Amino acid sequence: MRAKILASSLLALVFGFGGVAAVIADGHMAPTEGKAFIRYITEKDDYTKWPLFPGKGKLYKGAHPHGALLTTYVSPDAMTAIRGKKGVIPSGGIIVKENYSPEAKLAAVTVMYKKAGYNPDAGDWYWIKYAPNGAIEKEGKVAGCINCHRAVQGNDWVFTGPVK
Ligand code: HEC
Repeated sequence: MRAKILASSLLALVFGFGGVAAVIADGHMAPTEGKAFIRYITEKDDYTKWPLFPGKGKLYKGAHPHGALLTTYVSPDAMTAIRGKKGVIPSGGIIVKENYSPEAKLAAVTVMYKKAGYNPDAGDWYWIKYAPNGAIEKEGKVAGCINCHRAVQGNDWVFTGPVK
């Protein structure tokens, strides 16, 4: 009897830890739902504290269709991959680009977030564009974003600089 209780409490312990570990592991990954994603990169892991894309400063000159001036932040894990010339951004990696008007007024935020298995046909990127007030303009497997960024799929769909 005592052995049975011991065995079942051991099992509960093991599964309990498994559950907690799964929650922690998943909690590390940003969600692929617009509002929750924005909360993640603004509150949980504030992207403005991340490093800038290698070789780029703040408010550098951009091209159509993004802003006239751009500031691009890279999550630390993505940064390690870019600096290490890994060729791919790891699952969980995020690139946030702030798009500014010629007068340096923030116009929109566009983001690429890599999540393994999310969209294998297009580099497993989740795309989102939102206004400075948080209003979501586009999100998910956005054809417009994908079809243009496809031109650089050999660089893991990233235009700004080499990742390998
Ligand atoms: C017509 C082509 C085109 C479309 C459409 C487009 N982009 Fe881009 N994107 C670019 C170019 C070019 C850059 C490099 C920055 C620059 O010079 O403007 C870029 C850069 C980025 C970056 C910085 C990482 C990188 O790839 O360099 C992000 C993030 C991004 N775009 C997100 C988006 C999202 C989200 C959408 C859709 C809402 C989108 N883009 C639509 C061409 C495009």
